[in-house]
Amino acid sequence: TTRIILDVDTGIDDALALLYAVKADGIQLEGITTGMGNVSLAQATLNTLQVLDLANAPAELPVAMGAERPLFRRMPHTAEFIHGPNGLGGFELPATTRKPIDEHAADFIVRKANELGRELTLVFVGRLTNLALALAKDPSIAGKVGRLVLMGGALDAPGNVTPVAEANIWGDPDAAHIVFESGMPITMVGLDVTMKTVMLERHIEQLKRQAADGAEAQAAFIEAILQFYFRAYERQNGFYGSPLHDPLAVAVALDPTLVRTESHYIRVETRGELSAGATLSDRRRAPSATNTDVCVDVESERFIEQFIRVLAQA
Ligand code: BDR
Ligand code: CA
Repeated sequence: TTRIILDVDTGIDDALALLYAVKADGIQLEGITTGMGNVSLAQATLNTLQVLDLANAPAELPVAMGAERPLFRRMPHTAEFIHGPNGLGGFELPATTRKPIDEHAADFIVRKANELGRELTLVFVGRLTNLALALAKDPSIAGKVGRLVLMGGALDAPGNVTPVAEANIWGDPDAAHIVFESGMPITMVGLDVTMKTVMLERHIEQLKRQAADGAEAQAAFIEAILQFYFRAYERQNGFYGSPLHDPLAVAVALDPTLVRTESHYIRVETRGELSAGATLSDRRRAPSATNTDVCVDVESERFIEQFIRVLAQA
């Protein structure tokens, strides 16, 4: 089993990643941490708690709230135009009695990294702010944890917020810089692979057909939020489908054979007027000094089939 802390900014594809992480055999969730990103910290946390209810996650699963804003930038940039006014395409989930724990996400990460060491995999599918804060508190965790799998960045693919920057890096480039320079073993699941992993209308139909007793409400939720996401991607990218950005990162943490990786020395542009948030490979440094396994190809159909199978389970 892979023991995971999953950091989210719940949003539509984060919700899918949460459902997948709770339901997949082979994943033991140690906790969820939340941050601002697609929506505010408060909204992302509320969405996370409600999605955990829907997923029937154990009541004792810790949820720790983290950063309300990026490290140095003054204002968080949210993305309601992609994820809907409440981050879930306007879908209202039932009220929840779950509560976040009384510990900051960064402290939670530091504590768990020291407790579990190599056994722990960090999966980040939002801004890297909570991890940068954790590294500031205890830089030694970089050498202790097994690996960080992050959804973010783009190597050869274009950006999705600017010509060169992907949203999770662009939203807090300073945090990303700290993480990439920390020495932590990193797998970067960026737009090079997530844009090739697109859920289509027919996959939703398949999910609804296969949904076991008890998974129908989840399937209906997934259909509703994806309808919103499909339309947003059609407006933005001209295709009617949903890249499975965040779920793919969780899946790669569980099964690295889904992707082909290349070793790169990734650096983050923190200040450029046109290029802030870009993840650049310093190809002069490879292969001797690298800091990241960058995913460059993915077995997309195999992943989507497996994703649907897991979500259709009771
Ligand atoms: C990433 O940005 C967010 O909108 C998604 O949830 C995903 O984590 C894709 O660039
Ligand atoms: Ca996300």
